[in-house]
Amino acid sequence: MGWTAAQWGLDVGSSSTVVYDLSGGFLLDEPSLMLEMPHGGGTGIGRDAADLMERLPSAAGAVRPVRAGVVTDLDTARRYIRAVVRRILPRPWQRSRLSVALVVPAAASALERRALVEAAEEAGIGRVVALAAPVAAAVGCGLDPLDRRAHMVADVGAGTAEIMAVCYGEVLAVRSTRQAGDALTAAVRHHLRTEHRLLTGPAAAEALTRQVGLAQPDARLAVSGRDVEHARPRSLQIPAAELHDLVAAHVAAVAQVLSSCLDDLPAQAVDDIAADGVLLVGGSSPARGLKAALESGLGLPVKQAENPVTCIAEGAARSLVLPDVRSVFGLR
Ligand SMILES: Nc1ncnc2c1ncn2[C@@H]1O[C@H](COP(=O)(O)OP(=O)(O)OP(=O)(O)O)[C@@H](O)[C@H]1O
Ligand SMILES: [Mg+2]
Repeated sequence: MGWTAAQWGLDVGSSSTVVYDLSGGFLLDEPSLMLEMPHGGGTGIGRDAADLMERLPSAAGAVRPVRAGVVTDLDTARRYIRAVVRRILPRPWQRSRLSVALVVPAAASALERRALVEAAEEAGIGRVVALAAPVAAAVGCGLDPLDRRAHMVADVGAGTAEIMAVCYGEVLAVRSTRQAGDALTAAVRHHLRTEHRLLTGPAAAEALTRQVGLAQPDARLAVSGRDVEHARPRSLQIPAAELHDLVAAHVAAVAQVLSSCLDDLPAQAVDDIAADGVLLVGGSSPARGLKAALESGLGLPVKQAENPVTCIAEGAARSLVLPDVRSVFGLR
């Protein structure tokens, strides 16, 4: 990295943290988790924290620094971002001129956004500009949010699902819901507990949720957890069809909220979007039936991004060197 100032896109999501460096590419893509490591091991983040959390009961206190794009505790967020920055740039002189485009939810209030920006500044990042996730995703996928044609981006992540339409630098419509991937994982856990008397950790339930999308209805999916009654470890095979219903209800609810953004769109903008398609990003974008539910709710074609999670941090980093995007969409 030498003496040139580093320029990053930093996406601290509810589920994953992605760092994209403008000159070096992806530097980090790990779970958004923080843990005080045992035996004075300092602050553990990402996979280090996730690995221990699954093994040590004493590590169950690992925390997510951000939920639904909102900093729950300023000190935690600050310590987390500091640990991320220090892992990548261990020397103080490397950090001194770091400039970052920080991804925030489109629907975050000014106060919520401010808290995240402050956490990043207090973590030692010299220059911070905030950018709404759908705008960053558009740039990351080669769309120009300053185009005279309208574009629409849906980001279905873990803590939030959002949709935004932009045209010529103006935001035409935004809708957001907290019914995203975390809510689906919670529904799967609840189903396993009530229907199969199985207690699962979030990681096991999430792994199961990820498999559901590709599984045929007659497939059986394995899941491990503990028995509700005697707390012994137990494994189980459940028919995929059982979870398909759960997922279908979930994606229908998400699609319904996001589709209401049509109410705010001028007809000509709808024509533009109909011609180009709605860009779908976020880790939950492969969820079974989501694309189809959005297409029928919006009445518009939907295209899945090639790199649905990392395009957001990449687009944020690229925005740093697009002065127009930065000045029109950059938030403080
Ligand atoms: N194949 C899959 N099918 C369904 N859901 C998936 C799949 N793979 C990942 N997910 C879900 O994607 C979510 C993570 O998405 P993403 O990384 O975009 O979230 P995030 O950016 O950290 O969260 P947010 O932006 O909402 O704060 C998790 O809830 C996970 O369960
Ligand atoms: Mg996200």
